[in-house]
Amino acid sequence: MAILQILQYPDPRLHKVAEPVRSFDENLRDLVRDLAETMYAAPGVGLAATQVDVHRQVLVADVSDEHDDLRVFVNPVLIEGDGESALEEGCLSVPGVYDRVPRFEHIRGRAYDASGNAFEFEATGLLSVCIQHEMDHLKGRVFVDYLSRLKQNRIAAKLRKQQRHTG
Ligand code: NI
Repeated sequence: MAILQILQYPDPRLHKVAEPVRSFDENLRDLVRDLAETMYAAPGVGLAATQVDVHRQVLVADVSDEHDDLRVFVNPVLIEGDGESALEEGCLSVPGVYDRVPRFEHIRGRAYDASGNAFEFEATGLLSVCIQHEMDHLKGRVFVDYLSRLKQNRIAAKLRKQQRHTG
């Protein structure tokens, strides 16, 4: 197990598009364990492989208060979405920034677990927004990409300044 380094916006590697997972092997299970450990350590409620510079379609989420409800999604696909969420979101790659972006309130989709078993999922509320947010990461999209150009420039400038100070 290892805590991995999380790419920080505006790192261009956050815009890489992830490839589907084809072999459900020990490497994949190691990646899932490391993603979960990194997410819990941060702490955060979701993490996509893209954020640790691994460009494969893998994400983890845990929106429970006790951090005992880990969800793993490999090659996730949305089947349908409806409603509109009013939740503000943040991102471990964009620390200190919170905003609302267009998300479905309710989603249904399918994915594989780390052993290659297909499953269908349904989510509402925070878990729904979290899954949509992480699925966007796998497509190379960060939530601030939905905001105005002006806001994006401000956020990028602020984070670049912080990154200079923290190394
Ligand atoms: Ni994020």
